Amino acid sequence: MNFYFAPMEGITGYIYRRAYHSCFYPMDKYFTPFIAPKQDKTLNSKEKNDILPEHNEGMRVVPQILTNRAEDFIRTAEKLREFGYQEVNLNLGCPSATVVSKKKGSGFLGEREALDRFLENLFENLSMDISIKTRLGMDEPEEFYRLLEIFNKYPLKELIIHPRVQADYYRNSPDRKVFADALKISRNSVVYNGDIFSEGDYEQFTASFPETGAVMLGRGILANPGLPGRLCGKKPPSKQEIKQFLDRLVQDYREVLSGERDVLFRMKELWFYLGFLFTNPEKYVKKIKKAQRLCDYEEAVRTLFREQELAENGAFRPSV
Ligand SMILES: Cc1cc2nc3c(=O)[nH]c(=O)nc-3n(C[C@H](O)[C@H](O)[C@H](O)COP(=O)(O)O)c2cc1C
Repeated sequence: MNFYFAPMEGITGYIYRRAYHSCFYPMDKYFTPFIAPKQDKTLNSKEKNDILPEHNEGMRVVPQILTNRAEDFIRTAEKLREFGYQEVNLNLGCPSATVVSKKKGSGFLGEREALDRFLENLFENLSMDISIKTRLGMDEPEEFYRLLEIFNKYPLKELIIHPRVQADYYRNSPDRKVFADALKISRNSVVYNGDIFSEGDYEQFTASFPETGAVMLGRGILANPGLPGRLCGKKPPSKQEIKQFLDRLVQDYREVLSGERDVLFRMKELWFYLGFLFTNPEKYVKKIKKAQRLCDYEEAVRTLFREQELAENGAFRPSV
């Protein structure tokens, strides 16, 4: 099985990726959070920093692009090729209202004719590997059968499926029935993504779909960076290893962000997920989230690590 790191805007930029890669189980591919090209513009400095080869050493990184304009996709992909990238990924999954209202991300899935023309244009004019990360549709999982007819017309590098529809956001469960059909119908190789948060989830998945060659993991890693290693039979990281990883993140963010408040914001966002790694962490996580200064944050984290044990099954549990 190949393991891919899911793109997560605001979290899995190069600082996080690099720290993860050097501390935990190396993933086969890392997808960048989406680049959203502006008309006639190239990469902004945040986007450029994220994909610079010297910021991504030793990792196989696939940049992701979010657009519904073929010329913007092609221009951005060609720019990325100048930095040495061979593969780019199209975002057809983002469910956020602002993106969907512009018919981008999963909003593009409701525009089948335009999507078909867009892909035709890409495959005629861009000689790079193109993969797609998609949801099943806008409202109904059954929309995916029509979408598959379109995807089957093109030689995609991979089709990564998060089997929810846009209207689900992250509610409800991934639709494994439609995913099973997609495995049979797709001419392109299929990657699974969605709600693999524990060894049990993974075992259940591989028992149902032994023919799947790759899975993409997202929130499960944010909650437990030792998860991919566990799925490959490695022992779980120690408390000390997790703490070293978090300390490194603080240090690396400090070097690139303009002030302590930004570093604090980044780290607090991670603690939305990381609490699941501990037994009864509520009181401590509350303190972390209330910290106003980086030193208060660091003190709260130190106390948590001193006083709390790692949970046996530190798996993310969605609250919706
Ligand atoms: C905070 C956050 C940011 C995300 N940003 C992106 C993104 O930039 N591009 C994308 O394709 N998916 C994005 N996603 C979706 C994830 O890549 C993934 O498809 C989703 O979390 C389901 O996988 P999981 O259950 O393993 O987390 C994001 C998800 C989260 C929670």
